[in-house]
Amino acid sequence: MPVVGRIVGGVAPARPRPGDGAGIICENRTMTMIAVTGAFGKAGRAVVTDLLEHGYDVAATDVTGPPGSDAGLGVDLVLADLTEYGQVVEVLAGADAVVHLANIPAPGRTTAPETLNRNTTINANVFLAAARLGLRKVVWASSETTLGLPFETPPRYAPVDEAHFPVPTSTYALSKVLGEETARHVSAWSGIPFLGLRLSNIHRPEDYPAVPGYWADARSRCWNLWGYVDARDVASAFRLGLEAYTEGSQNLIIAAADTIMNRPSAELLAEVFPGVSLTREIGEFETLLAIDAARELVGYSPEHSWRDHVEEPLR
Ligand SMILES: NC(=O)c1ccc[n+]([C@@H]2O[C@H](COP(=O)([O-])OP(=O)(O)OC[C@H]3O[C@@H](n4cnc5c(N)ncnc54)[C@H](O)[C@@H]3O)[C@@H](O)[C@H]2O)c1
Repeated sequence: MPVVGRIVGGVAPARPRPGDGAGIICENRTMTMIAVTGAFGKAGRAVVTDLLEHGYDVAATDVTGPPGSDAGLGVDLVLADLTEYGQVVEVLAGADAVVHLANIPAPGRTTAPETLNRNTTINANVFLAAARLGLRKVVWASSETTLGLPFETPPRYAPVDEAHFPVPTSTYALSKVLGEETARHVSAWSGIPFLGLRLSNIHRPEDYPAVPGYWADARSRCWNLWGYVDARDVASAFRLGLEAYTEGSQNLIIAAADTIMNRPSAELLAEVFPGVSLTREIGEFETLLAIDAARELVGYSPEHSWRDHVEEPLR
């Protein structure tokens, strides 16, 4: 029998049982209704599709997009602005757990202070509403940027892992660092397990034709150690995060198993970051954003690569 998490204020951590199929048994009841914030966004659409395919009910919300069934998500889209706490409580009410993706998703899209303020407000609202409503799990989008991107100061070592933190260099990255700290405390207060996924640069199949354009210059994508992640693997990471038994607030790097380049990873590192040592042997094209912890904690196993979509020319 797996260890049962402590129950605080009536909130029981999610505890999967093999073979349950759709829905996670949490103590005496099944976790089937998942709220997804940012559902109309790049990651959100993939997450909603994946959850529906795996038999979950989804409450999809976003601040933008065609409301109701016109969004084409396979489930109605409810418009709500998550900077407003009351709207957050409304859209999370009735859910068993939340996949929280809604944020300004990168630096430079709004002014730097606005990115920090808006993301921090959204994340605090969602985490506090989850605690108020007694949700059973919060799985949310943190970011690889918390690890020191764009590595104008080289990483201390490679592969970069979860311990290479916190190194925010933008207000966007800082909003995620603050989010992780907020998650840690709200999890401790409420007993709800939180999982932050430090996502690498999300690619959809339609993004792969651009990949060969990166190969001529090793510096063109060194800003995240040549990392990326397929949107479908992002979706499965969130579902696995919901289903895995975890405690407290933990944060995991989620990247593809390979880099986006067609050259060996050690060769790229030696060329662009000659002073950075490898802490262990790595596979020829292995990611330099370590996903070992995600593999171990939630069973993350990326299945998609640009290699399945791009004809690689002979070198
Ligand atoms: N795209 C990437 O490469 C990447 C990498 C690392 C982390 N992330 C994180 O993953 C998450 C999803 O990213 P994405 O690429 O799908 O971005 P996206 O912009 O496509 O989706 C984010 C969604 O959040 C919504 N949103 C923004 N402000 C809102 C508000 N006030 N209320 C309600 N909804 C709001 C937007 O309308 C949008 O649809 C974000 O948290 C982002 O920071 C993305």
